[in-house]
Amino acid sequence: MHIVDLFASPLHIHNLGLDIKSLIEFCREMRKQNQGVEISNIGGWQSRDIKNESHSEFAKLKLEIQKATHAYHRALQFKESAKQELDNIWVNINGVGHSNELHVHTQSVLSGVFYLTDSKFPITFQHPFEDINNYFWKSEVIGNCNTINSCFWSIPPKRNLLIIFPSWLKHKVELNKDETERVSIAFNTQVANEQGKPKSLTQKQFNNAMDEVMKEVNKK
Ligand SMILES: [Fe+2]
Repeated sequence: MHIVDLFASPLHIHNLGLDIKSLIEFCREMRKQNQGVEISNIGGWQSRDIKNESHSEFAKLKLEIQKATHAYHRALQFKESAKQELDNIWVNINGVGHSNELHVHTQSVLSGVFYLTDSKFPITFQHPFEDINNYFWKSEVIGNCNTINSCFWSIPPKRNLLIIFPSWLKHKVELNKDETERVSIAFNTQVANEQGKPKSLTQKQFNNAMDEVMKEVNKK
């Protein structure tokens, strides 16, 4: 029987051959230099956008990300006239007891993560149907879990592993129960076309826009 796997959540998973020691030193240097931000992380440290950093091994990583996001773009048959561009990129360092709650990367096209350390505690993706699945494919129906019938899919971090996914795909990072730090570099892309790169809102602009919306809501 032939099954059509309709409406996919496509992941690109690929091993890079980068100098991990040099990249970890770079990430620790970034942590020394700035306080970081708190977005989806519960504990741990997340850097500001470091897109313009010029460390040589980090520059190689940015090039690999560019190649991989272009290949993903072509594989999904997105417009040839449009081009994936790195929008922002940041370091995550999760120590023991740290995690990232379930989230998506709004206002981006593709997102990804590159791992600098191995870990037993995975990144977990959530099937878009999970919110309503209690009414349909209950666990007692499922024999062998696979990428079509599962609500969640986990991938343990491995050094040099690059994962690219659609920015709308919900994911979380499981609690790190190890004493060793879990180090990764995550990123988002935007798409540029003949008209140039669309401007995404900065977090501040987004917060201001939301404040305006809430003011209108509270007036009513
Ligand atoms: Fe994320």
